Amino acid sequence: MEFIIADSAEDMSRRAADHIADWVCADPACVLGLATGTTPIGLYAELVADCAAGKLSFADVTTFNLDEYRGLAPEHDQSYRYFMKQHLFDKVDIDQARTHVPEGANPDADAVCAAYEEAIEAAGGIDLQLLGLGPNGHIGFNEPEDTFPKTTHCVDLTESTIQANSRLFDCIDDVPRQAYTMGIGTIMAARSILMVVEGAHKADIVKRAFFGPVTPQVPASILQFHPDVTVIVDPEAGKLC
Ligand code: GLP
Repeated sequence: MEFIIADSAEDMSRRAADHIADWVCADPACVLGLATGTTPIGLYAELVADCAAGKLSFADVTTFNLDEYRGLAPEHDQSYRYFMKQHLFDKVDIDQARTHVPEGANPDADAVCAAYEEAIEAAGGIDLQLLGLGPNGHIGFNEPEDTFPKTTHCVDLTESTIQANSRLFDCIDDVPRQAYTMGIGTIMAARSILMVVEGAHKADIVKRAFFGPVTPQVPASILQFHPDVTVIVDPEAGKLC
C-alpha cells in the first residue's frame, strides 16, 4: 500500500487526478470504478480541466459507480447518477452509454444487483477503482457488520450514514434508508485501488482503517489485503498517522 499525506486538499485532488489520468492515458479504453461524496469533487474538477485542455480523453473509457440510493430516480438531484453527470459525465467527452450506476429507481434488488455484476464482468472487470471513506469506515455503502459482503447488494444504511448524508438533503426524513452498492468482493476484484480522504473528522477512521486490524467492523480495513492500493489523504485526515 502506498499511503500519501498530501500538502493540502487541493494537492490531494491534483495527485489523485494525475493518478487516474495516468491510467486513462496508458489505456484509453480502461474501465474505471468511480465514487461520489464531497471528497472526489475536487479531483473530478481537475479531470474536467485536463479534458478541456486536451490532455485527456474519456471517449473510450467505461465507468462503473460504486453505489446508488435505492428509490431515487436518475433525475433526482441527490441521486448519484445526477452527481456524476454534474461533476464529470456532462463535462467530459465520455460516451454516456458506457457509464454505469446501479439502477436506483428499480425496486427489484435482486435484478439490479445481478445485472450490475454481469455488466462489470462483461466489461472485463474494473481496472482502477476510486474510493472515498465513510466516517464509520464504509466503502461504497458497505457498512460495518459481522462479515464482508461479496457482490453488489442492497443495504440498509446505518443511522450514522443517514445522519452524515442528511446534510445534502432538505431534511433527514428525505434521506433514503437503503442503497445498492458494489460488495467488498466486487471492490477487491479491481486491479488497482485509489482512495482519497479529507478532513479532521476522518483522521481517526483513517488510522483504524489502514493501521489497525482488518475487520468487517471497519470495512475499508480489508484494503490492507489488496495488492495495489494508493491512499491519498489531506494533512487533516492524515494527522494521526
Ligand atoms: C457516501 C458514499 C461513499 C463515500 C462517502 C464519503 O456515503 N456512499 O462512497 O465515500 O459518502 O463521502 P464524503 O467524501 O462526502 O465524506
